[in-house]
Amino acid sequence: MEKEHVTLTINSDGSSLELPVLEGSTGPKTFDVTSVYKKTGMFTFDPGFMATASCRSAITYIDGEKGILRYRGYPIEQLAEHSSFLEVSYLLLYGELPSAEELTEFEYIIGHHTMIHESLQMFYRGFRYDAHPMATMVGVVGSLSAFYHDSLDIHNARHREISAHRLIAKMPTIAACSYKRYKGEPFIYPQNNLDYTSNFMRMMFATPCEEFEPNPIAAKALDKLFILHADHEQNASTSTVRIAGSSGANPFACISAGIASLWGPAHGGANEAVLNMLDEIGDVSNVEKYVAKAKDKNDPFRLMGFGHRVYKNHDPRATIIRKVCHEVLEDMTDTGNSPLFELAMKLEEIALKDDYFISHKLYPNVDFYSGIIYRALGIPMNMFTVMFAIARTAGWVAHWMEMIGDPDHRIARPRQLYLGATERPYVPLDKRS
Ligand code: CMC
Repeated sequence: MEKEHVTLTINSDGSSLELPVLEGSTGPKTFDVTSVYKKTGMFTFDPGFMATASCRSAITYIDGEKGILRYRGYPIEQLAEHSSFLEVSYLLLYGELPSAEELTEFEYIIGHHTMIHESLQMFYRGFRYDAHPMATMVGVVGSLSAFYHDSLDIHNARHREISAHRLIAKMPTIAACSYKRYKGEPFIYPQNNLDYTSNFMRMMFATPCEEFEPNPIAAKALDKLFILHADHEQNASTSTVRIAGSSGANPFACISAGIASLWGPAHGGANEAVLNMLDEIGDVSNVEKYVAKAKDKNDPFRLMGFGHRVYKNHDPRATIIRKVCHEVLEDMTDTGNSPLFELAMKLEEIALKDDYFISHKLYPNVDFYSGIIYRALGIPMNMFTVMFAIARTAGWVAHWMEMIGDPDHRIARPRQLYLGATERPYVPLDKRS
């Protein structure tokens, strides 16, 4: 059967160009523009990747119009309901759900990579006491390559796997240490008889003089949030990891680059920004005023936690998280009520009825509610994006492994539409006006 093509007509000279159409297992067809420059001398222009598939991938599928998110084919709703974060990490890394034996072994491996090198602990002392934990995370994760050089040969599949395990395992420890440094409390060592999430909570909240027993409902909710944040195909931070890794950079450097990208308020930093916004709005009576500000083109204010590049109907993660929010608040407060949650629900209600938000297809995204849950769990605001980073590490390493393992992968090297000065002669200093 003849392969499908699209034909582009070049108006300036009337010539046409046939480009092959690629078909994935599901989702939109994609036409291959790699030969366009060679055949026409022209580049394609797509800042922000509005219509560009930057790679082949078999990890995560999103249909933004229908509000579908699947990891390795499994709907996010089913994974959030039945799975655990470590099981999902295994799925993302290896492509299949583990057998009971494989899961036990994976949990054992991750559980036995949780400690960090003692010298790495010294590294934290170099940061100012009030450094934002995300800033500390970028530095500490980037420096892991200085401590674990026995697994840095990216052409060795076993090395790649060990690095992936180390990153997933150490991220909660590194995150908790970043917080303890900020708080001025001693680091708490991991305890391997606890599950992944409970272990993290203990490292955050225990002190040498007081044990901390994680509340199972809180630990379960946090684990669910980790599942929801574990991967999201070619988002900004994952693309950053892939681009950094395409040059052959070591995995720790790549994940550090991903963390730096995640921190931006348009991406993972939104969960912190949502709480700042809700604090600023302060009271239900002010909601309409802030909705009007968000609609005003002359006002830079945006409703944080609203809108998504891909989801134009609803964010399936937000639907799940809204439910978790109710469960956590019911467990953590006597009445199940929280003024912050009420404010968030009012904001959601007004925005969802508003013509501007309807016509712009702006719906609450995953981060609209996650901050409220984090706050109920006692996690401080400057740790919100760190929570996201712990979870997304599973996706980042899965994408990094997929890319390096793909024999067709090449260094990422976009081109540009140059708008600067054309050639001009150098002007000696004494001749410049
Ligand atoms: N509040 C008010 N107006 C908005 C908002 C918002 N939150 N988001 C988009 N718009 C408007 C925007 O002004 C523009 O209007 P117009 O076409 O009239 O000029 C239109 O909607 C399209 O916006 P855009 O910025 O071109 O859309 P994008 O796809 O480039 O950006 C986004 C997506 C998520 C960056 C953006 O919606 C946003 O800034 N939202 C708030 C930040 C946020 O919640 N980010 C978390 C994303 S989910 C977590 C993650 O995966 O990282």
